[in-house]
Amino acid sequence: MTIERKMLKVLQGESVFPPPIWMMRQAGRYLPEYRETRKQAGSFLDLCYNPDLAVEVTMQPIRRFGFDASILFSDILVIPHALGRDLRFEEGRGPLMTPIEAHEVERLDASPLHDHLAPVYETVRRLRAELPPETTLIGFCGAPWTVATYMIAGHGTPDQAPARLFGYRHPAEMRKLLALLADCSADYLIRQIKAGADCVQIFDSWSGVLDETSFEAFCVQPMKRIVDKVRMVHPNVPIIGFPKGAGALYEGYRGKTGVTALGLDWSVPWSQARRLQAKGPVQGNLDPLRLVVGGEALREGVAAILDNLAGGPLIFNLGHGITPPTPIDHVEAMIAQVRGATR
Ligand code: CP3
Repeated sequence: MTIERKMLKVLQGESVFPPPIWMMRQAGRYLPEYRETRKQAGSFLDLCYNPDLAVEVTMQPIRRFGFDASILFSDILVIPHALGRDLRFEEGRGPLMTPIEAHEVERLDASPLHDHLAPVYETVRRLRAELPPETTLIGFCGAPWTVATYMIAGHGTPDQAPARLFGYRHPAEMRKLLALLADCSADYLIRQIKAGADCVQIFDSWSGVLDETSFEAFCVQPMKRIVDKVRMVHPNVPIIGFPKGAGALYEGYRGKTGVTALGLDWSVPWSQARRLQAKGPVQGNLDPLRLVVGGEALREGVAAILDNLAGGPLIFNLGHGITPPTPIDHVEAMIAQVRGATR
């Protein structure tokens, strides 16, 4: 039996119509069943490190909507957590960590990495066994720069000023931190792939706050380091890079980093998106707030993506994660419009 995983076909450069669809943050608080399991888990991190519960919440959006792909339920900050940095998630405040200081970088110890992350690998193994055969399983990690922004500030910030200041004040320590995160992230992805992930996505959610020189040093170089390392072990596994907010710097990103596909945010203009798609698969890029509002705002956004990008290799997605106030019937309407599309 040959298994047809639509998203993998697109990642191999094929145009599939209608395009495969999944959503960033598809397991999350907009779903009542997620909120229920989350309550049962106690804390968000307990949910990430408990394979029974992590498998359950990963499966929830697949059961409800039948998406073409499923993304492992975890968080990008399990890597610094595995390196011994404290981490907690507070309702309404997001992640909280003790800010790392420059002199602490050389003391970071990667030896507990795989023991700490063993439950995540177990979750991936169970998912591949439980998912329908036609559903693509996506592994993921955060890009070193984005993970570093939380380690340095200790929480989310609107412009990542603490991490930018750290990079300018302590360039050697910044390079060292990003290289360590890149090596750990590559090892983490390699294990996820061994456990059954069909492809992986690397989230660089904060790549849009840097000047071109720092974008090269903090985003492009560490991303290339991960891609090179993963490819040495798994040369044929597709890698999606998502340099959110990169703007004009999306140009050249695929070539410089070696990623297979580009995740686009909603601010990428169609002319640029089509130029990027001419060189390989793209994923995106509905404004998640169109999905909150629904109706004409949603129909118009979905139609524009299909009109501009569905003729080439496209994975239909949002331009960033779904937000908690999104009504479920809007998600259903989006899926119906994409799957019901005609040329
Ligand atoms: O369904 C999925 O997409 C898989 C799971 C997933 C989560 N986080 C679960 C989560 C993925 C892929 C992530 C990635 C992630 N985590 C990123 C990159 C993507 C992005 O959104 O930019 C970042 C920056 C983080 C760090 C993080 N985790 C933040 C800033 C927050 C707080 C914001 C929020 O939405 O609450 C989290 C918490 C988090 N990660 C939740 C979920 C479902 C909500 C926490 C909860 O349930 O209490």
